[in-house]
Amino acid sequence: MNKMFTKYTLRRGVTLKNRLVLAPMTTYASNEDLTVSDEELIYYNSRAKQFGMVVTAACAVSKNAQAFERQISVRDRRYTDSMKQLASSITKEGSVAILQLHHGGRMNQPNLYHNQDIVAPSAVKANRDYTVTPRELKTSEVYDIMDSFVNAAEIALEAGFDGVELHGANTYLLQQFYSPHSNQRDDEFGGNSTKRMTFMMKLIDRIMNLRTKHNKPEFIIGYRLSPEEIEDPGITIEDTLFLIDELSYKDIDYIHLSTGHYKQKSIRNKDETVSLIYRIMEHVQDRVAIIGVGQIDTLKDIEDVSFLGYSMAAIGLAALADKEFVEHVRDGIPLNKEFSEDCMLPTKLFERLSSWMKNSDRGYTVK
Ligand SMILES: Cc1cc2nc3c(=O)[nH]c(=O)nc-3n(C[C@H](O)[C@H](O)[C@H](O)COP(=O)(O)O)c2cc1C
Repeated sequence: MNKMFTKYTLRRGVTLKNRLVLAPMTTYASNEDLTVSDEELIYYNSRAKQFGMVVTAACAVSKNAQAFERQISVRDRRYTDSMKQLASSITKEGSVAILQLHHGGRMNQPNLYHNQDIVAPSAVKANRDYTVTPRELKTSEVYDIMDSFVNAAEIALEAGFDGVELHGANTYLLQQFYSPHSNQRDDEFGGNSTKRMTFMMKLIDRIMNLRTKHNKPEFIIGYRLSPEEIEDPGITIEDTLFLIDELSYKDIDYIHLSTGHYKQKSIRNKDETVSLIYRIMEHVQDRVAIIGVGQIDTLKDIEDVSFLGYSMAAIGLAALADKEFVEHVRDGIPLNKEFSEDCMLPTKLFERLSSWMKNSDRGYTVK
């Protein structure tokens, strides 16, 4: 049996029943008050039966953090009960529950709510049609946002999550701090690449302190990142290798790459012959656990992922389409590729997937 189907122990002692991870996927399906809905609990519980670790949808750490409609919130202790339900829907199946902590920054969709204040490290608009020019954060406000992340991590810990994942990928706020495109600050949070990671490094130290405060040394801290940005200036692979080094010195539990394909090549330099992933894996060696992602859809892909040296593999669309993905792929049972009510997905997510699948070449159909 491939090693991805066997147990795996993270560096701080938590053991996963297998090395397959449900990728974090926004469901757009919270209750109106942004607490977790019953449909979401059913979805997470069904996938927790399969996956060694479940990373939740990106959850907003403050009101201002909210990037999408019906995004689950973890902004204050009014959400603790909602978080307890979410954690237990996962842990009761023996799966490791990780809450993904998120702030959208300049990528926040405008007009989500009245008096919305879209903020970012600098007042630079993202190159996306729907975005607006954000308001530059004051230094004191940067510390307020850090407080929101720490507070959310503490709520997660108290609610029974095994850990948190900082969403530093997909162009959201933490990535905006690291990016020379979106961070042109001249205070302690901007400048060269070391200074641009100040926010994340201080944040990780403070979440690590929560372990001591709550006597939970095994509480997991993961970090998700996108290895490159297309913008110029933008994050390069060299910047990312440097960030990975600093994260591994911090002794975090894992780094979760966010790439469209688990063998992704450079998106900045089309002439580069060595795949981006080879460069990352060669650089990291065994210093920190790495989760790979992106079109890991078949047993062959899972074998490739093990061969490449990833510690764990995250599954997105394939796990949405087949609610028993792990058992089916392991036992050679044909995978479900048709989105229908049987997939146990929240209705709003199902509706979005149904329209996205019309333009997708991934081989999925909709009933
Ligand atoms: C519906 C949907 C929602 C997503 N939401 C998130 C999210 O909340 N946080 C995140 O880090 N990535 C998010 N992603 C990206 C996935 O985690 C994953 O990286 C991507 O789908 C590639 O994996 P796949 O090819 O197996 O689907 C989302 C992807 C999908 C399809």
